[in-house]
Amino acid sequence: MSDTLRHVSRALPHDSARKHVAGTAAYVDDLPEPHGTLHLAIGLSPAARGRLIDLGIDAVRAAPGVVAVLTADDIPGRNDIAPSLNDEPLLATDRVLYFGQPIFLVVATTRDAARLAARLARPVVEKETPSVTIEDALARGETVLPDYAFGRGNVAPALADAPLRAQGQFRIGGQEHFYLEGQVALAIPGEDGEMLVHSSTQHPTEVQHVVARILGVPQALVTCETRRMGGAFGGKESQATQWAALAALAAHATRRACKLRLDRDDDMQITGKRHDMRADWDIGFDSDGLIHAIDLQLNARCGCSADLSQGVVDRAMFHADNAYFLPVVDIRSKRLKTDSVSNTAFRGFGGPQGMLAMERMIDAVAWSLGKDPLDVRKANLYRPGHDETPYGMRVTDADTIHAIIATLEETAHYRERRAEIAAFNAQSPVLKKGLALTPVKFGISFTLKALNQAGALVNVYADGSVRLNHGGTEMGQGLYQKIAQLVADEFGIGIERVRITATTTAKVPNTSPTAASAGTDLNGMAAIVACREIKARLAAYAATLWECDADDIVFAEDALSAGNRRMSFKDAAASAIRERISLSSTGFYATPDLTWERDKGRGRPFYYFAYGAACSEVIVDMLTGENRVTRVDILHDVGRSLNPAIDMGQIEGGFVQGMGWLTTEELVYDSDGRLRTHAPSTYKIPVASDVPEHFQVMLHPGANREATVHRSKAVGEPPLMLAISVFAALCDALHSLAPGKLVPLDAPATPEAILRAARQIAPGDLF
Ligand code: MTE
Ligand code: MOS
Repeated sequence: MSDTLRHVSRALPHDSARKHVAGTAAYVDDLPEPHGTLHLAIGLSPAARGRLIDLGIDAVRAAPGVVAVLTADDIPGRNDIAPSLNDEPLLATDRVLYFGQPIFLVVATTRDAARLAARLARPVVEKETPSVTIEDALARGETVLPDYAFGRGNVAPALADAPLRAQGQFRIGGQEHFYLEGQVALAIPGEDGEMLVHSSTQHPTEVQHVVARILGVPQALVTCETRRMGGAFGGKESQATQWAALAALAAHATRRACKLRLDRDDDMQITGKRHDMRADWDIGFDSDGLIHAIDLQLNARCGCSADLSQGVVDRAMFHADNAYFLPVVDIRSKRLKTDSVSNTAFRGFGGPQGMLAMERMIDAVAWSLGKDPLDVRKANLYRPGHDETPYGMRVTDADTIHAIIATLEETAHYRERRAEIAAFNAQSPVLKKGLALTPVKFGISFTLKALNQAGALVNVYADGSVRLNHGGTEMGQGLYQKIAQLVADEFGIGIERVRITATTTAKVPNTSPTAASAGTDLNGMAAIVACREIKARLAAYAATLWECDADDIVFAEDALSAGNRRMSFKDAAASAIRERISLSSTGFYATPDLTWERDKGRGRPFYYFAYGAACSEVIVDMLTGENRVTRVDILHDVGRSLNPAIDMGQIEGGFVQGMGWLTTEELVYDSDGRLRTHAPSTYKIPVASDVPEHFQVMLHPGANREATVHRSKAVGEPPLMLAISVFAALCDALHSLAPGKLVPLDAPATPEAILRAARQIAPGDLF
């Protein structure tokens, strides 16, 4: 059996691109509502911490249009939505855990009636002083998970012996997901206690499990279906379940379809974000800029429960080396508990925070030595003989990142521009330019080994059309299209014959979330396994018909053939069915060669690494802090691209999203633990005009050395971290004000923060 590639590697548009633009792609809120659908609104806690004395919902119950008001007491099963530990209630009971926590649920005939009614509540909370900041949590010593550390060697003496040393504290802000489609779910009750939930979730299986747990019914009674999300970015990995469970609870109580769509302000207030962190760092190095030892503590603000903080903070630790060899190192972490909504997955899953802390240290070394930061970066890259990560995994393909940096340095004219910028800055007192080229090395695989599995179901029908289902979800990243390309080429048929269908737990069970960028790696492989099973049956059938070897049957150009014998795929399907051959198959895949022992802090948690580098230039007005990113050049490694158009879209989108995180997006909480930036008016995400004028993205040629699907590499998250080059370029511009000093800039580098840093670093002439 051989196959020719007609679709794989081609820049085909996203399967729903036209529908997205035309407004005809159906999201959960667009689905036809069953007759008598009821609408939900939630009552929010008015305090971040304290005892819940009374819900004060008499007026809510009496409000027009209200059908029911549900509380924790109405939950027939277990009041617990936690993805890991049992530490998070669906609705508050005796205590409130964060400002805006759902405390009751209003079920009404219209959405407006539900929302108006919810506002009539007068809940009584015996308030306590909340723990809001990292410092609050450190002072109280409250954590959601135990401290964790790994490393190598004896750090204290290595630091003491190093010729040079630098230390600091670096703050890294969080980030709101700002998916365009907010959290939403529609629950439809069926016969005998069945429940169908349409949910905008990255993790239909978890929605199924949590709904079953809340209702106290077997998982087999619950189906979760997800056709597409209008963006997720990690915000719908564990945190879509609560809204689905509330919709299911109401549908169970009323025996009518129930829909919950969060209002944008509520969505921003009461869903978790990227973890903000404080990195306490200490680095020993020599006059060549070589790192001798690092001591790094990542203090992560996790919120009120564990949620995904184990994986997120672990991944921050795994990426605290970025692309550099750290001979002696101690990486420690604290998972701090605050009285705020639980922080959660966000593109990069902690990796960006760890990597940014590392790049901060590299810059500090370069500044103190008066070296170009790129030279310090290059000197410390993983290389033969210096190829073991702090967690004991070998980096066997570091030549890839060396090649990427070398190429980008040339194509972006880094050295020439470095000189030009120095000349510009020397004669420009107010406007200062900055330049930085930073690498990305990102580990691909879930660090929780059990999640590295996927399933698929492929059906071939009598007319030769194919229905494709797998465990992955579509959030705009193009997963469905990539897998349809794979399936079309496996069967050698036109992609128009492959029908992409909604992800549902009823077809492919026990799935992992679509996350960790592994969606295509895992589900694509599972789909191929299913196709090959069906092909083997068809080939065996054709081989008996043509009296040839099944191995000689070729699937190409919409037909099966062997020598001069040929049968259209359609005819083959129809006659195989008449011969009582099954043309439906499941497929299953589990990533090989993963060996992570968390208790020992050693192993191979990742199947492979994805690499990339970005060179960014900025211009900053030092009198106002205003700035622009004027030029960005990116070279990124996606292995052998399955779809260059989709991959380029992921790189561009990821970069701009990372740029927003590090420059304009700032989460501000008041001392009551209330988020004050809960609308686009106060929380600024990048818009089209923020995209740099010169924005060139290139794919690094080359195949994945591991046996991934068609030797491609995952692309969903790694490009976000290319935006660290923007932060480093802003620091570079500030550094020109006072060469040799540590730039006192935390992330995000908002104009205010840049202005503050400029005044602090250069309080002289300019100001
Ligand atoms: N791209 C779009 N358009 N929308 C999204 O929500 N999520 C990102 C990334 N790219 C996201 C996206 C995140 S957080 C992950 S983990 C991956 O897509 C998940 O999809 P994949 O595994 O298929 O790459
Ligand atoms: Mo992505 S943060 O792994 O959902």
